[in-house]
Amino acid sequence: MNYNKKTVKDVEVSGKKVLLRCDFNVPQDKETGAITSDKRIVAALPTIQYLLEQDAAVIACSHLGKPEASFDKWVKKQAEKGKDPASLTEEKWKKSLAKLSLAPVAKRLGELLGKEVVMAADVVGEDAKAKAAALKPGEILLLENTRFEKGETKNDPELAKAMASMAEVYVSDAFGAVHRAHASTAGVADYLPAVSGFLIQKELDFLGGAIASPKRPLVAILGGAKVSSKIGVINNLLEIADTIIIGGGMSYTFSAAQGGKVGNSLLESDWMDYSKEMIAKAEAKGVKFLLPVDTVCGDKFAPDAKSQLVKAGEIPDGWEGLDIGPETVKLYCDAVSGAGTVIWNGPMGVFEFPAFAKGTEAMAEALSKTSAITVIGGGDSAAAVEQLGYADKMSHISTGGGASLEFLEGKELPGVACLLDA
Ligand code: 3PG
Repeated sequence: MNYNKKTVKDVEVSGKKVLLRCDFNVPQDKETGAITSDKRIVAALPTIQYLLEQDAAVIACSHLGKPEASFDKWVKKQAEKGKDPASLTEEKWKKSLAKLSLAPVAKRLGELLGKEVVMAADVVGEDAKAKAAALKPGEILLLENTRFEKGETKNDPELAKAMASMAEVYVSDAFGAVHRAHASTAGVADYLPAVSGFLIQKELDFLGGAIASPKRPLVAILGGAKVSSKIGVINNLLEIADTIIIGGGMSYTFSAAQGGKVGNSLLESDWMDYSKEMIAKAEAKGVKFLLPVDTVCGDKFAPDAKSQLVKAGEIPDGWEGLDIGPETVKLYCDAVSGAGTVIWNGPMGVFEFPAFAKGTEAMAEALSKTSAITVIGGGDSAAAVEQLGYADKMSHISTGGGASLEFLEGKELPGVACLLDA
């Protein structure tokens, strides 16, 4: 895939209406709906501010959550969850949609920008069209949740055309959603000149750079719960990396595949053969494939579990592996210290429990000290690095969970592929 895309600086935006796709899919408090982290809104600010300074009229849009845009489908899904169909009224469906309105995002964005963000009541309806038409250079409008439109997730060309008809240029800065081929993330690019914003440009520079032309040696640290969710990443990185480090829950499937005892640890027995294959493939390709040599295990999956340190593959019955041990930390930190580039995706243990966060913390610390380019995949690894206080020490922390994973799998990302090549 070509990661070299035209950016907002390569097109004339001054005095133009610009449709800007952001990823404002922010976490919200379940009860109150309040935004619990505005990181994604803050991440969109450089592009928004640039466009406003250039006197563009900015028509911003985003999805939020996974609303069900059709009443009938909503009823079906609720009934599947065990709700009494007779109680499922249109009013209740509308209430469920209202919870996913982007109005709180408009408010927060306005506070951050220090200017009014006009909120549209719909995406391509009368209100949005009228407000977009009236929008003046230097002003910003936020359309309602794009997933309130049935055509959004189907990448319906009619919806894409209707969105595009309000603007003259399309800028995508929604890295977190570039793995979705939806009307607002990809379809609109068929009708407007399409370029990236600064956030996507930065993601492409770091993630794309790490994959396409890494400073070597390239060390990939892969963790997280399941082998099955990382197959694509392991496969792809086996072609690119010099060293692959395995940690987290998925290491127990590798251990079991090599005849180790894993007690009650997470185990995907269906993936043991695959794990063996990966070890053999790494050997054949001359890729160093590092697996834990010791394990901190607990007597239950809980923050107050009793713990003991054992050799990898020697986890007693009734115990489960919850973190990598100190010998493993040393082995992994040594591998990282000589790296030119490090890509990290997935924690080394249950870092949410302080007693089992040491492995993840030690890796974060090692990355913070290395002179290597450090690229952290979104999702859990980003959360771990942030929670442990090392965020500002990394070269790049991706803002996309699913998107960065698909990037590392080497997949074509529809929201990137649709942008003009530089
Ligand atoms: C994310 O939060 O990873 C992105 O906003 C994509 O959201 P989605 O998984 O609902 O498409």
